[in-house]
Order: sequence, then C-alpha cells, then structure tokens
Amino acid sequence: MLISFSSALALLLTIAEECNAVTVSVSATASHAIPTTLCKYYGDGGLYAELLQNRAFQQVTPGTAAALNAWRAINSNITVVKETTPVSAALPNALQLAVPSTNTGRGGFANSGYFGIKVTEGATYTASFFYRFPASSSFSGNATIGLETASGQVVGSTVTVLSGSNTGWTQVNVTFQPEITPIDTNNLFTVTLDGAEASGQVINFALLSLFPPTFKNRPNGMRVDIATALAEMAPTFFRLPGGNNLEGETIATRWQWNATVGPLVDRPGRVGDWSYVNTDGLGLLEYLNWCEDLNMQPILAVWGGFSLDKTSVAEGQLERYIQQAIEQINFVIGDPAKNEQGALRASLGHPEPFALTYVEIGNEDFLGPSTYTYRWKDFATALKMEFPDLHFIATTRPFNPILSPNPTEYDVHVYQTPTWFRQNSFIYDGFQRNGTKYFEGEYAAISTNSSNLFGTPATGRLTFPTMQSAAGEAAFITGLERNSDIVFAASYAPLLGHASNNQWMPNLVSFDAGFVYKSTSYYVQKMFGVNAGDEYLPSTLPTPSGTLFWSVVRKTSSNKIIIKVLNSATTSAVLTFVLSFENVENMGSVEVISGAATASNTPTTPELVTPITSSITVGQTFNYTAPAMSVSVLIFTAQ
Ligand SMILES: *[C@@H]1O[C@H](CO)[C@@H](O)[C@H](O)[C@H]1NC(C)=O
Ligand SMILES: *[C@@H]1O[C@H](CO)[C@@H](O)[C@H](O)[C@H]1NC(C)=O
Ligand SMILES: *[C@@H]1O[C@H](CO)[C@@H](O)[C@H](O)[C@H]1NC(C)=O
Ligand SMILES: *[C@@H]1O[C@H](CO)[C@@H](O)[C@H](O)[C@H]1NC(C)=O
Ligand SMILES: *[C@@H]1O[C@H](CO)[C@@H](O)[C@H](O)[C@H]1NC(C)=O
Ligand SMILES: *[C@@H]1O[C@H](CO)[C@@H](O)[C@H](O)[C@H]1NC(C)=O
Ligand SMILES: *[C@@H]1O[C@H](CO)[C@@H](O)[C@H](O)[C@H]1NC(C)=O
Repeated sequence: MLISFSSALALLLTIAEECNAVTVSVSATASHAIPTTLCKYYGDGGLYAELLQNRAFQQVTPGTAAALNAWRAINSNITVVKETTPVSAALPNALQLAVPSTNTGRGGFANSGYFGIKVTEGATYTASFFYRFPASSSFSGNATIGLETASGQVVGSTVTVLSGSNTGWTQVNVTFQPEITPIDTNNLFTVTLDGAEASGQVINFALLSLFPPTFKNRPNGMRVDIATALAEMAPTFFRLPGGNNLEGETIATRWQWNATVGPLVDRPGRVGDWSYVNTDGLGLLEYLNWCEDLNMQPILAVWGGFSLDKTSVAEGQLERYIQQAIEQINFVIGDPAKNEQGALRASLGHPEPFALTYVEIGNEDFLGPSTYTYRWKDFATALKMEFPDLHFIATTRPFNPILSPNPTEYDVHVYQTPTWFRQNSFIYDGFQRNGTKYFEGEYAAISTNSSNLFGTPATGRLTFPTMQSAAGEAAFITGLERNSDIVFAASYAPLLGHASNNQWMPNLVSFDAGFVYKSTSYYVQKMFGVNAGDEYLPSTLPTPSGTLFWSVVRKTSSNKIIIKVLNSATTSAVLTFVLSFENVENMGSVEVISGAATASNTPTTPELVTPITSSITVGQTFNYTAPAMSVSVLIFTAQ
C-alpha cells in the first residue's frame, strides 16, 4: 500500500480560470496509486450497545448519591456498597436493595440508560446480572425484569426466580421481547420483586447489563444504527483506542489493554479523560472484531509515557511501559504457541492474528515534545526490534523536534476554520518525497472564527458541522488525494458525540438514545470514502487561494473516472473538463450535496442537507456547473 511517487506525470495544462469559470484538463495516465487507507470514537453510550449506564458501579465512591448515577429505587431503598465478598477483584462495589418490611406493592430499582433507552417491539433484549443475599436467607421468589415507560407502562418483561439459599453470587441471564414500541426513549429498565413476598429482604446486585440486538449479532457488540452509519462511509481503517483517551488524566489512569479484555466481570473500568467512567466493555478485542466486521485495518495506539497532566515517565524508567506495549501488540498479532498474549487471544476465540501494519506511539506528543525525543527513541527502538515488520507512527509535529530513529510515519492533527482548510489544501504539495509518510489522523473545521478554536468553554465553535465547514474539509481532502503518494491515511475527528450531552463539538455523527444524525461532514466523508478510487489522475491544478477545488481518480477495475468538485463560493461556477481519454461514455452520474453556508443537520432538522444523485451528460469535453456551496462527485466510464 505504500506506493512510491511516479515522476512521470502527464503534462499539466495551464490554468484558464476566469471569474467562476475554469478549464480542467485531465490526464489519462495515473501519477500514483491511492492507498486503501486514505479516507474516532465514542464508546460507552454510543457505539457500544450496552443500554444501562453505570452498570457495574465502576470507579464510584460507595454510599454517595453520585454512585447511584442513572439508578433509582422503586418503593425500596438502594445504595451502592463496597462489597465484603465482591463478585470479582475488578468490581468491588454492588447495588444493595433493601425491600421495606412495610412494602405491599412491588419493590426494586430502575436504570434510565444513557439519557434514555430505545425500545423496539419484537426485538430481543438480553438482560443479565449477578445477585447474592449478603445475609443467610431462605427467600425464594419471583423477580420481574423488564422495560417500562416513564409513566410506568410495562412494555416488555420476563420473570425469573431469585433464591436466597446461599450467600454466594448467582448469575441471571434472560431475554424478552417488548410487545409495544413506546413513543419516545424516556424509558426505564426495571428489576422488581413482589413487595409483600420479599419484605425485609436485602439483596446485592452486581454487573447489570441490557443489550438490544447488536451489529452483526455480536455478543457484547455495537449499536446497530451507529455501526451501520459508520459502515456506510466505507472506512478502511480505525484508530484505536482513540486519541486523548489513551493517555489518561494521570499515568495511573492511562488506558491499559489488559484491563479491557476477558470476561466483563474482570474489567475494572477507568475514569476516562473526559471525566466520565469508561466501562471498558468496548475493549481491545471488541475493537479488533469491529475492524474485522467492517473490513478495516486497525491503527493501534500504544501508551507513549505521557499523560494529560503533562507528566512524562522519566528516561530510564520506561521499560515496564514498553513491555506492556509489546504485550498489547502480541495480543493483536502474537503467535498463540509462542507467547502468553497470543494464547490469551486464542482462548477468547480468535486464534488467528489480526491484520496489523501501523502502531502509533502516544498521542499528540506535540503537547510534550521535549520528552518525546527519549520516549520515542526508547519505544520505537525496542518495538522495532521486537516487531520489525510493523510501521511506527510518531505523534509530534513533523521534524519538530528531530527524532531518532527517523520516523517513517507521522500522525498530524488539525482543528481549524473552513477557510484555513481551503487555503491549506496545497500544504502537502510542498513536502519532500523522500520516504516519510503522513497520517492526517484528526482534522475538522470546528469554527468560522480562528479566535475561537480552542477556548474553554467551547464558545464560538460549531455545534454541528455546516455546509460551509464540510466544503472547507472537502477542499482539503482533494489535496490529500492529490498527495496520497505521501499521505497514507486521513480521518475526521471526533467521530461520534451525543447530540445534547456533548463535550467536544462538532462531531461527524451525533446520536441520542433513539436516533443517529448524519452531518454535512459525514456525507462529504462518505462521498469521498465510497468513491476513493485506486489511482490518482493529474489534472490542471486548482488556484490555491480560490473557491473551486477538484481532484480526479480512477477505479481501475471498472475504468470509472471519479471527479470530485467543490465550490465554496456563494454563486455557481462552470468547469469545462477536457479529458485525454479516447473513449468517454456519454452518460454519467453526479452526486451533489449543497446548501446554505450555515445549514446543518441537527436533531430538529436531521435531513436538511443530504446528497442527491442524478445523471449527467459527459464527453471528452464537457461542462459541469457546480452549485453554490456544494460538493459534487461525478462518475463515468472512460478509457
Ligand atoms: C428506607 O429508607 C427510609 C428513609 O428513606 C427509612 O425510613 C426506612 O427504614 C428504610 N427501609 C429499609 C428497609 O431500610
Ligand atoms: C413466579 O412466576 C411464575 C411464572 O410467571 C409463576 O408461575 C409463579 O406462580 C410465580 N410464583 C410466585 C410465588 O408468584
Ligand atoms: C450468562 O451469559 C454469559 C454470557 O453469555 C455466560 O458467560 C454465562 O455463563 C451465563 N450464565 C448463566 C448462569 O447462564
Ligand atoms: C495490566 O498489566 C499491568 C502490567 O503491565 C499491571 O500492572 C496491571 O495491574 C494489569 N491490570 C489489570 C487490570 O490486569
Ligand atoms: C524527509 O524530509 C524531511 C524534511 O527535510 C526530513 O526531516 C526527513 O528526515 C526526511 N525523511 C527521510 C526518510 O529522509
Ligand atoms: C471572533 O472571536 C473573538 C473572540 O471570541 C471575538 O472577539 C471576535 O469578535 C470574533 N470575530 C468575529 C468576526 O465574529
Ligand atoms: C461550456 O461552457 C462554455 C462557457 O463557459 C461554452 O462556451 C461552451 O460552449 C460550453 N461547452 C459545452 C460542451 O457545452
């Protein structure tokens, strides 16, 4: 996939640009192949399909109100206790239910999900939990497990017997199918007992879980609508386990792969870098399976010795972290016969190694560049010795500081204005073609005002991508395609965010408990992702300071020529394409997304701006009128 640049460029004709009219000559000879990877995430309450929030009381302080986040009592008393006999070493806390002796109705508790629970009639919901009676009890009685609306209408339930015959933990697994689809997502998961029957009983619960059907029916899998939206973009790689979330607020709270694999009951969870608790139910193996399900390759990050409180591990003390990184990589690709981590992966159902080419060392180490020189040196040297076939990606700014060993790949991040992206679509044209490659690992147009890019709180930032921000990104992507001989991968970030409970705006895809909202930027990513092509065809270069940009690629297997055009002006523009092909089919198709500069797809206007496909007449020479503020993809056959 790393294909060297061919200097045998076809002649580029001179630019003939008038006001809003331009002639684009397109070569029939490719200059370079387009890497298949040219084209982030929010786990709990997002991509990960678990419906219960705070399901295992991980990383909370027992006895506090905060520990009961998302839980409420039903005619009973509940509290989070530090267990004397925890369900596992990883999960020290339990939910203690005390059914009052005066209770005559039902008694139990409810969970309100991640800002709601979507309930679908006929779908199979899988619920599970552990329980024990902390004091010896001869109780045996029915518990009703189900879903109900905020007003208490039961929409689906099942009954199971809880028995107090011993004081150890018992696991319950049940499924049920709601008979009603409630009008909204303001629903509750409930576990209740007959109050009279269970009066005076004290029961402890641990690791409660509720899953709807998941993407490809994977147990402990992904939310179908979000996973489907992402799959439709035809992504070819996935950077895991995310950016900042890898680093930890402190060294101790960094992401550690071994805390995220194996049975859920053995995963302690951690306070993530955006201060909410990560269940780590979406762990390393779940991410890797997700990559396989979407035919994406993982770009795997290992912790690089630096946490977000700006603490670096001292030189000479990195060894155990390097060892942990080696073990993490061995979990992904190790031979089960040769090492413990490969054997662990095999025991969890995946004996074959996963496909892995790229490993990123750290994240955004331009925030701690002074120590990256030795951290990079120690990590890269040791990892390269252990895994000579892997490529290691550096995360400081290219060539600043100068690193040794010289990185073969850099991960570059940029959050900017739509104008910046347009004006910098030529940024990689000036880079030397000398073997060093670039991963545009995070980019997004996040504000139209360059003074407001990184303010805290995030005032002046876009809440949702707009047509203008998407068009700015599209201009930049045409430059990435042109430079894909050295830019081997690119990804918008952040990928996913809750539509109303959002710390980092804007996001490519927003969601709430019930729906997924696809942004203007999402559609642009999808238009470029689905129509990536595999060869770049040189054409007349756009004017770097202009408002019209394009790039031309070919899908060799079908001789499809794919032209992306974006017009970020407030008026339409005519482009005359002059093609060097002998045969050009008369008809082609064009997919266009356009709208007002400030138009966004939001929960109240989810489909304000979406692409429309129609047919167009093409030929060796043809005109295309690019609407105001638009991104177009023209496709036709030529050879
Ligand atoms: C439940 O809590 C109430 C106070 O909120 C208390 O009066 C009652 O005794 C408690 N019942 C049990 C069974 O602990
Ligand atoms: C428990 O539930 C089962 C099945 O719904 C029912 O047959 C049984 O009578 C119930 N037992 C009690 C004690 O309510
Ligand atoms: C409940 O389901 C889990 C996950 O499939 C399984 O590991 C466990 O053995 C089941 N427990 C019981 C009691 O069936
Ligand atoms: C993960 O492994 C590290 C050693 O690399 C160890 O210190 C840590 O306790 C392990 N964490 C879990 C949850 O097993
Ligand atoms: C490529 O060029 C850059 C900029 O001059 C330089 O810093 C880098 O080391 C070079 N890469 C290689 C592999 O020589
Ligand atoms: C850009 O943001 C800054 C800081 O919030 C503000 O002072 C300035 O007026 C803004 N500029 C425009 C053109 O809105
Ligand atoms: C394309 O548009 C130009 C004016 O911009 C016009 O002169 C020319 O005839 C058109 N060509 C075709 C093939 O329609």
